[in-house]
Amino acid sequence: MRLARCHNHHDFRRLAKQRLPAPLFHYIDGGADDEVTLRRNTQAFDDVDLVPNVLAGVGDVDLSTEVLGQRLRLPLFFSPTAMQRLFHQDGERAVAKAAEEFGTFFGISTIGTRSIEEMGGFSAPKLFQIYVHKDTALNADLIARCKAANFNALALTVDTVVAGNRERDLVTGMTTPPKLTLASLLSFAMHPSWTLAYLAGERFELPNVSRYVKQGSDVSSSIASYIHEQFRTDINWDDAAKMIQDWGGPFALKGIMSVADAKMAVQVGASAIMVSNHGGRQLDGSRAPFDQLADIADAVGGYIEIILDGGIRRGTHVLKALAMGATACSGGRMYLYALAGGGTEGVRRATMLLREEMQRNMMLMGCSSLAELNRSMLSRRGGGT
Ligand code: LAC
Repeated sequence: MRLARCHNHHDFRRLAKQRLPAPLFHYIDGGADDEVTLRRNTQAFDDVDLVPNVLAGVGDVDLSTEVLGQRLRLPLFFSPTAMQRLFHQDGERAVAKAAEEFGTFFGISTIGTRSIEEMGGFSAPKLFQIYVHKDTALNADLIARCKAANFNALALTVDTVVAGNRERDLVTGMTTPPKLTLASLLSFAMHPSWTLAYLAGERFELPNVSRYVKQGSDVSSSIASYIHEQFRTDINWDDAAKMIQDWGGPFALKGIMSVADAKMAVQVGASAIMVSNHGGRQLDGSRAPFDQLADIADAVGGYIEIILDGGIRRGTHVLKALAMGATACSGGRMYLYALAGGGTEGVRRATMLLREEMQRNMMLMGCSSLAELNRSMLSRRGGGT
């Protein structure tokens, strides 16, 4: 399998599986418990059909939109995801470069593998994802560093007060940094190009937390035990409101799923909500973001930006979400398989394919700008939108 032969997310996933040692592939690919929500996140799009209008005289297609204070050339951006340098040495740099080339946001995770300061040097719009740690000095430090590095927006993740039960990680013995265990030894040995690149590369660390936390950088830790030891379990709306004030700029709450919480997000002054269940990695059996979108858009559309995060694998998924009422979409696996499979060039190719899909399908829908997409162009199987 070669990058040039990758035409869609299935292909990128296959390439990632081929290149990565099992603990890392399954860390990206897996979800919580029975992975019902993980599967549902993408399947939900299949339950709503697009209804095109023809002879619409579409010339050029404009895919631009405004979100979190930035004009983007695509209605789709790179969600913050953890530990990208484990999947490919290019890590976060690959994603930032694609964001620059395609004119969109990239997200950096609190437990990312490149520093806030380094990533601040990229010209693309930048969003920093924050987890509330028990150590309040660490939380304040993250916000101050993001301000100094000119990050454009902050996203507080609200769906990860405890770690989801990711059984694949238990089976493979996934830790950060990777640790050779009896279970994983064979898999690292069978993927020598990854293993040699990892060993020859820069020392692994989590530079945004390493001044405060040893786990994850100097001490191998499972993701679940990192979350359990470091994150506050009792964060509440007052914490969110305070952080929005402290930041003082575009702010997203990431992991909102209910209509009631979407309304609260408006009340506490968030600029955006990311309707997300953390890629099915947290609460299994929870509803897909796309299934919640219509109710949320009816309740808060126009009062807050709505970012649909979860399950996006195709350009048509983005068009369906926008027609349903989302301002923009974002995703993790949609670029992570490509990063693992092909580094910078992989992310570039995956994004290019998604942009082509959006452009082509806008033309087939009879739309030249995103504002033209609306619910009359959607039909839910079994009736209604
Ligand atoms: C994840 C967390 C750490 O693995 O964001 O999903």
